[in-house]
Amino acid sequence: MTGDNALRFGLVGTSGHASRVAAPALRQSPDAVVLGAVGSRPERSADFAARHELPRVYGSLDDMLGDPDVDAVWICSPNALHAAHVARCAAAGKHILAEKPLATTGRDAAAAIGAARGAGVTLRVGYQHRFRPVHVRLLDLVRAGAVGDIGLFRIHRFWRYPYYDDQDPSGPPSWRRSAAESGGWAINDLGSHLIDLMLWLSGLEASLIGAALASQRFAVETEDTAALLLALGGQGIGIVETSAASASPGSRVEIYGSAGWIRADDTFTGAATLETSAAGDATFPAPAAHAPYAALIADFVRAVRGQRGVGATGEEGAANVAIVEAACARPVWRRSGA
Ligand SMILES: NC(=O)c1ccc[n+]([C@@H]2O[C@H](COP(=O)([O-])OP(=O)(O)OC[C@H]3O[C@@H](n4cnc5c(N)ncnc54)[C@H](OP(=O)(O)O)[C@@H]3O)[C@@H](O)[C@H]2O)c1
Repeated sequence: MTGDNALRFGLVGTSGHASRVAAPALRQSPDAVVLGAVGSRPERSADFAARHELPRVYGSLDDMLGDPDVDAVWICSPNALHAAHVARCAAAGKHILAEKPLATTGRDAAAAIGAARGAGVTLRVGYQHRFRPVHVRLLDLVRAGAVGDIGLFRIHRFWRYPYYDDQDPSGPPSWRRSAAESGGWAINDLGSHLIDLMLWLSGLEASLIGAALASQRFAVETEDTAALLLALGGQGIGIVETSAASASPGSRVEIYGSAGWIRADDTFTGAATLETSAAGDATFPAPAAHAPYAALIADFVRAVRGQRGVGATGEEGAANVAIVEAACARPVWRRSGA
């Protein structure tokens, strides 16, 4: 049941994440309603409204931003458009949930943060994996000192493309193949979440020491596989491994420190298992598919209402962008013949 005080959303994006996740999650939320969406062409707004039973059709982004009933916008456009869309939403006084990555360059990320701050609107970035119960448990353990000073933090997640039946098996959409439009494919599609979890769980600042990016299975200008080496807080080592090309038995988070260790498997999908050196072991049932997004929306609404939450801020989004941008400055290894 949606309350009278629900936050009223418009969406940027009329396919992909906007259609698969954002609109259904908003429609199920007791904290929010979704009024309509805009995509790359005006007719997409009407199609989208019909498919998702939304009350309004907008001719353009300006049209949607001019609607005084729209309180907030969830931006699900291609990565390189996020910062400009944040700026336009902020100028219209709308609160902003920007999909990850916040931007494709540090300069754009800073501009997005400045635009939101200048307009006095809330800006959060769509890192929904923070809200998975097993990740919340990892945060509690790290904060409680279960590992002590972090010596090595490794996070691994592969997801062979296509992720969904409606995606083209020959590779991602053209914007994800373009370095300029995506700022990196797998590293931003999957890796951005891993970097966010590493920074959030460790509570440490991170900088890039090394990176290997490769296009191993897909003939893309960007990469389908990435391994990053990070300096974590001056003493720790961070390792991020992601791929849309290779098979893997499952995801894994490993944190080793001066006082103990934590190892967690399959924390992004299905049932998760957690082993620790001193705080016991645990299993976590798979949350419902939209549960992390429901929590993301609820947290965003609380942030708009001035309450503290755990959703990623613009500054946290910018720290993530800095790492990805530094990694993507390196050459991409190409499969032979690509
Ligand atoms: N949090 C997560 O786990 C998660 C998961 C998936 C994606 N995402 C993020 O969501 C964003 C979109 O990814 P996707 O997979 O949904 O890509 P996609 O399937 O290619 O969809 C891109 C969307 O952007 C719209 N668009 C393109 N140009 C536009 C413009 N100039 N103005 C307004 N809308 C425009 C497209 O509209 P049309 O439909 O009209 O072409 C389309 O709806 C990315 O930033 C991605 O990182 C996040």
